Amino acid sequence: MTGSTPPFPPPGSRPEVERLKGYSAPLEGRRGLLRLDFNENTLGPSPKVVAAIRTFPEELIAVYPEYDGLREAFITNLEASKEGLLHPLTSEQVGVFNGVDAAIHAVIHAYGAPGDTLLTTSPTFGYYAPCAAMQGMALEAIPHGMPGFVVPLDALRAALERKPRILMLCNPNNPTGARLAADQVLALAASAPDTLVVVDELYEAFTGDSVLPSVDFQTQANVLVLRSLAKTAGLAGLRLGFSIGHPGVVDRVGRVTGPYDVNSLAVAAAFAALEDQAYTNNYVSEVLRARDWIVLEMTRSRVVFHCDGGNYLLVWPERPADEVEQALRSRGILVRSMTGKPQLHGSLRVSIGTPEQMQRFWRAYSSICV
Ligand SMILES: Cc1ncc(COP(=O)(O)O)c(C=O)c1O
Repeated sequence: MTGSTPPFPPPGSRPEVERLKGYSAPLEGRRGLLRLDFNENTLGPSPKVVAAIRTFPEELIAVYPEYDGLREAFITNLEASKEGLLHPLTSEQVGVFNGVDAAIHAVIHAYGAPGDTLLTTSPTFGYYAPCAAMQGMALEAIPHGMPGFVVPLDALRAALERKPRILMLCNPNNPTGARLAADQVLALAASAPDTLVVVDELYEAFTGDSVLPSVDFQTQANVLVLRSLAKTAGLAGLRLGFSIGHPGVVDRVGRVTGPYDVNSLAVAAAFAALEDQAYTNNYVSEVLRARDWIVLEMTRSRVVFHCDGGNYLLVWPERPADEVEQALRSRGILVRSMTGKPQLHGSLRVSIGTPEQMQRFWRAYSSICV
């Protein structure tokens, strides 16, 4: 008998994956525009990073990446920071990842079993929930207190008594900027030895609330800190993130991470970025100047907005947020509409760049909305 084989469907995946929707961020068509939509560095990395990429040895392209000295360079960079480190770190306490996204994925993969709870706050960074869902974890997201998006500290304390497997704390929180002081984070962790407390410190450079200067991972073995070179250092396109914690936690998370997940160009760029902290510090100071300026302008204009930690703010235009997002895009400026998100509906998240960039944003925004 002839005839074509009847088509058959692709094999199904794990039930947890069948229920997931692909994580999609609107990341196309952004070149040449003022990028105030992803909290990135809006100027680019240090010239030393660019030089490291330009002079990257050709013979290394065919060789698997080597990470010798990278963890040590990261520790040296932390030690040299204004706050320093009260308790010295060793290289076994540092994990290296293809961006903090990959670190979040790996931590939740290593620690979250089906039915376990991942505790976090709401609204917060959007990648925690799908990572929990793909493990079959239950998500408990406690809303920030209103008005002012206050971190729900009492509710978190009460929830920790139920011993969730993981607490994901974004500090300062994206996109509300809500902040906890380092001693508040460490007190929460101390009250919950059965919970892995992951402190996502992607934006701490803008406010300085890091636990790293004071944490002693020997006694607080359940704390894991995440840091990235994506935002402040401007390496978002190369992907480089770190986890810092007890060697036993770093080791376990490393077990679910591929041996060569971070590529050689990212490594070369990371060394250069870590050696040029002055460039990053300068950029952060520019952003803080711009933040003061835009906050003053928005206050004067009686615009409804919220700005706390981090290099971003929320603004509620009087017109629909999606419409304003489009109008700004047509003027070459990208921002992120929060339409449909709990507690944020009607707002735009605007990343803060340099003072000149914020002046440009404000001229455009005012012509559309004010
Ligand atoms: C809070 C938070 N964590 C993690 C990430 C991801 O960082 P990376 O670019 O290092 O993967 C982001 C990026 O937007 C973020 O806002």
